[in-house]
Amino acid sequence: MLLVTGGVGFIGSHTVAEALRAGHKVVILDNLAIGRREVVEGIRAAAKGGDFTFIEGDCRDAATLERLFGEFPISAVIHFAALKAVRESIDKPLEYHDNNVNGLAVVLAAMLKHGIKDLVFSSSAAVYGTPKSLPIAETHPLSVVNSPYGFSKLVGEKLIADFVKANPTLRAVLLRYFNPVGADASGFIGEFPQGYPNNLVPYLIQVAAGLRDKLTVYGRDYDTPDGTCVRDFIHVSDLAEAHLAALGWLQKQNACTIDAFNVGTGKGNSLIELIQAFERVSGRPLAHEFGARREGDVATLYGDVTKIETTLAWKATRSLEDAMRSAWVWSQTLAKRA
Ligand code: UD1
Repeated sequence: MLLVTGGVGFIGSHTVAEALRAGHKVVILDNLAIGRREVVEGIRAAAKGGDFTFIEGDCRDAATLERLFGEFPISAVIHFAALKAVRESIDKPLEYHDNNVNGLAVVLAAMLKHGIKDLVFSSSAAVYGTPKSLPIAETHPLSVVNSPYGFSKLVGEKLIADFVKANPTLRAVLLRYFNPVGADASGFIGEFPQGYPNNLVPYLIQVAAGLRDKLTVYGRDYDTPDGTCVRDFIHVSDLAEAHLAALGWLQKQNACTIDAFNVGTGKGNSLIELIQAFERVSGRPLAHEFGARREGDVATLYGDVTKIETTLAWKATRSLEDAMRSAWVWSQTLAKRA
């Protein structure tokens, strides 16, 4: 049985759906600070049932984890529970540290106490800071300077590495995500942040759903082929499957394993390419305008994914059009709900 912390969030919910489809039993622990309660029913519909339990609670609460590990036969943990808004983290560094680092520390302590060996950790390409060379491989230098969010992920990675070294029965994989987009093909789950969407695709989805007027594309004067930023957009269902591949690999490793993998497609697409893909699959124009650059953005970011492809035998199989088709389907689910 898997414990998925933060399993009601965007990537968490998609990973739970894929885990259930693959036959895993799952316990979700989520404090609903970011995720919405209705996602639990969305997961049930997307996975057509499946054996899972949702527990509303906080990873920072050792007593909650103690109860949970006592009650369920957990064999591995996928840890997503964290705050993730880069801009917000600049104003709330302590909250980010508390949720993302202290929450992880409590989970690690509980795993050790209950003899649970395997951990997959939700990290981010943010740990690389501003790219010094492209594509970014795992050997790229790490940076603490970009944001308290990036810092919290980097500290989390280091904490896990130190913890595995100190407790050599453990095994851990750190997954550094590039830009996850899209939604489950079922149309039952997808990204729907509470409040103003900070990221590109959730905003685009809300425009397509008629919940917002138009998307502003930040910057058209970058040194890129069409002037808009280039990102490594990975379908969230591919990303979800990477977690299961990581778990399968971990279980075949010797104790005291710790390794980090980029999770992306290995290629970059511009924001204009993404919007055009969305327009193609939806068959209608997407209202957008071009605005000023957003502070802190880099022109181009994409990963070298050779390591995950060769080591974990995982590869992104869904295209940008597939991702945008699923985003379109999800936008129509939201439109019907509104
Ligand atoms: C950011 C974080 C990254 C985090 C990821 C997902 C930084 C440097 N990186 O990536 O660590 O893992 O979010 O939470 O902050 N854009 C628009 N209009 C919008 C929103 C975004 O044009 O309304 C543009 C941005 O300028 C950027 C691209 O879309 O060029 C992607 O932005 P976003 O989805 O926020 O992701 P990142 O900034 O790449």
